[in-house]
Amino acid sequence: MIYLDNAATTFPKPKSVTKSIVDCMTKYCANPGRSSHTMAIEGAKLIFETRELVAKLFNFDDPLRVIFTFNATDSLNLAIKGVLQPGDHVITTSMEHNSVLRPIHQLKSIGVESTIIDCDEEGLINISDIENAIKYNTKLIVTTHVSNLTGSILPIKEIGNICRRHNIFYLIDAAQSAGVLEIDMEDFNIDMLAAPGHKGLLGPQGTGILVIGKNVDIRQLKEGGTGSESSKLTQPSFYPDKLESGTPNLPGIAGLNAGIKYILNKGLKSIYSHEKKVLDLFIDEISKNDKIEIYGPKDKNNRCSVLPLNIRGIDSSEVAFMLDNKYHIAVRPGLHCAPLAHKTIGTQSIGAVRFSVGPFTKKEEIIYAVNALNEISKEIK
Ligand SMILES: Cc1ncc(COP(=O)(O)O)c(C=O)c1O
Repeated sequence: MIYLDNAATTFPKPKSVTKSIVDCMTKYCANPGRSSHTMAIEGAKLIFETRELVAKLFNFDDPLRVIFTFNATDSLNLAIKGVLQPGDHVITTSMEHNSVLRPIHQLKSIGVESTIIDCDEEGLINISDIENAIKYNTKLIVTTHVSNLTGSILPIKEIGNICRRHNIFYLIDAAQSAGVLEIDMEDFNIDMLAAPGHKGLLGPQGTGILVIGKNVDIRQLKEGGTGSESSKLTQPSFYPDKLESGTPNLPGIAGLNAGIKYILNKGLKSIYSHEKKVLDLFIDEISKNDKIEIYGPKDKNNRCSVLPLNIRGIDSSEVAFMLDNKYHIAVRPGLHCAPLAHKTIGTQSIGAVRFSVGPFTKKEEIIYAVNALNEISKEIK
């Protein structure tokens, strides 16, 4: 199988990730932080070390404010609903995933106002539109770093600067960029960073992170056992316990630990430049076929990892079906959980076939996919 669906979940994972999960499951998979026996302590140490690795990757100095969640959706809900209150205003963009848009929409019912900034047809934002939308009660700006539909890269450093100048919290959805692009929370003025563990961070499904800057306080969305202050009926007020109730996903965090070590060893620059090389090759080759329409930024430097396209005259699901059945290529068709992004680029009624590369995508696989698309497009008169 040629796997070009890395924007959904990366595959394959480094061997060290699988090994780390198996080691955890077979050697020390006890309940960390709840008991004081050797296995529980080993688990607790692994979790703390993983918080440190996350902090290092994003240049953040407090590992205790790295929260483990179950995916990016979980992290985004926690940040958005844990910060906003009735009467607050939030700004976001038309390129967001439903894991940002739906929580914000839901908060309307309790009196949270929102403004959605329209991006242009390439999926790029005009930075001054964000600044112009700020109101007296704007508390939060939430933007994706990289669109999961078009791969457009948003200027998070500039948006972070705006947030700092206006004293507004900045939350980034790093679902498509963590583990690929450099994100310096300190330098970019990012207050909260949400990411899945199972995409660019190369961990398994069922893992996610929320990194919370020192100036932000997030209300917990659930209460429960934390292994700390157990005599009290109230939730601990310190991080990470405040936001991490119940037994953690230790095998998942063990895999994530190895995934982040792989990234730190390899280096973000090397991962990004590999992904860019194969994606650019794909764009250059497929652009020669005039039956194929590609979407997203025209300047290849403004995009990352993702290429959405349509063969004119064939439904995206049919193309994906043929790619899977005849050519054994895995892609995602249809709508990509980002309805306003589809509207922005004009594909709300037709969807798109999304190809997404990862750190292990080979040049030959891209050439094979281009040939497959060219063959399929020939069937159209
Ligand atoms: C930009 C973006 N944000 C959020 C998510 C949600 O991630 P998860 O499935 O880990 O909850 C995705 C998933 O594809 C995404 O691409």
